[in-house]
Amino acid sequence: MSNSLKLRDKQVIWHPYTPQKYMPDPIPIVKGDGCYLTDTDGNDYIDAISSWWVTIHGHAHPYIAEKLYEQAKTLEQVIFAGFTHEPAVRLAERLLEKLPGAISRIFYSDNGSTATEVALKMSIQYWWNKGQRNRNKILAFNNSYHGDTFGAMSVSERSVFTLAFQDKLFEVIFIDVHQANFDISQLDDQGIPWEEVACLIYEPLVQGAGGMLMYEAARLDGLIAKCQAHEVICIADEVMTGFGRTGKLFASHYLEHQPDIVCLSKGLTGGTMALGVTACTHRIYEAFLEEDKLKTFFHGHSFTANPLACAAALASLDLLEKETCQQNIDRIGQQHQSFASRVAVEFPAITKNIRCCGTLFAFELVLGKDEYLNNIGREITQKALSRGVYLRPLGNTVYLMPPYCITEVELEKVYLTINEILGELNAVN
Ligand SMILES: Cc1ncc(COP(=O)(O)O)c(C=O)c1O
Repeated sequence: MSNSLKLRDKQVIWHPYTPQKYMPDPIPIVKGDGCYLTDTDGNDYIDAISSWWVTIHGHAHPYIAEKLYEQAKTLEQVIFAGFTHEPAVRLAERLLEKLPGAISRIFYSDNGSTATEVALKMSIQYWWNKGQRNRNKILAFNNSYHGDTFGAMSVSERSVFTLAFQDKLFEVIFIDVHQANFDISQLDDQGIPWEEVACLIYEPLVQGAGGMLMYEAARLDGLIAKCQAHEVICIADEVMTGFGRTGKLFASHYLEHQPDIVCLSKGLTGGTMALGVTACTHRIYEAFLEEDKLKTFFHGHSFTANPLACAAALASLDLLEKETCQQNIDRIGQQHQSFASRVAVEFPAITKNIRCCGTLFAFELVLGKDEYLNNIGREITQKALSRGVYLRPLGNTVYLMPPYCITEVELEKVYLTINEILGELNAVN
């Protein structure tokens, strides 16, 4: 049965981020339960990266499933221009209680890329609405990743992901503030035309797809302070870092200076449904509160504020608010720290930059080139799968981002798997 599904897949499906020519057979998954995925042959895999960083409470969570079912029987979808519904309003109210700083409005979309696109468009139109039409430059970090649509690609690191579209991407001023050797005063030497800068977009504390690069909160604090002194709109892309990933509910909670806009997705619905949020302060919203209809924010998606997705997000927040959830997040962080010390001692020759941030753990393999297309990642995925663990390194960056429900024992199994793989690699290199 699994073979026929693989064959049928190969006839009709085009998978994301997957070279098609020599694509290995996809693994047909029939079931998810907690941190486990089960394939058609009955093999279980611990999902150690939360299925692209979304499944924070584990797969097929019965509480989220129940809330989804209730919602599906009541209202599954409704146009969100001119209509509203309880799950969307309630979710906005609950998010606003938790979001950092003075965030006071929620704009819904349906994924992480749309959440950042909306933030960029909101920022540029903010200045347009204010009559400052030349204020449209954007600051972003080298090595960043904000999604795959054109605006999101434009503010992301120009890389193998964006190569074919290079001349279609808009100009952005890339900065290096997150790099340890960068002094913030160097920004002045870079000649940034502050009065023309509309916004800054950043992934707080951890640059995810760029290689799980972690940087100090203080560096970002200094930059946000400087930007805000110049009235530059600061956009925190918390699509990956939100909802407990870095140990606190939002990575921005580690900072003194708070963003004007926050982007959310992934863990927002507990990873169950597609939903994006772009949340902003009253200052931003006010610029759209105008009689002139041309100052309307003309942006929306068919599934904006989908009631099922909002219901899943409300259920996910219920689970996040449980004491046991924060205890799990803290425990995973402690386990990661202790594993990090062990890897450093046992494999100094083939590992470097071993680091942790909350429930995130990462290191680089000192094998092959430091680049995304390095084949070592695929090799590690195969070795881990054969041991019942799913890992998906970014090039030579091996990382863990487990669901918070993973038990101490299950996480130790993941560490043991990495240890065995590192042992094998150590022996042959
Ligand atoms: C920080 C960040 N922003 C945006 C995105 C894009 O999200 P999506 O894949 O839902 O479009 C991602 C996805 O990995 C991300 O990590």
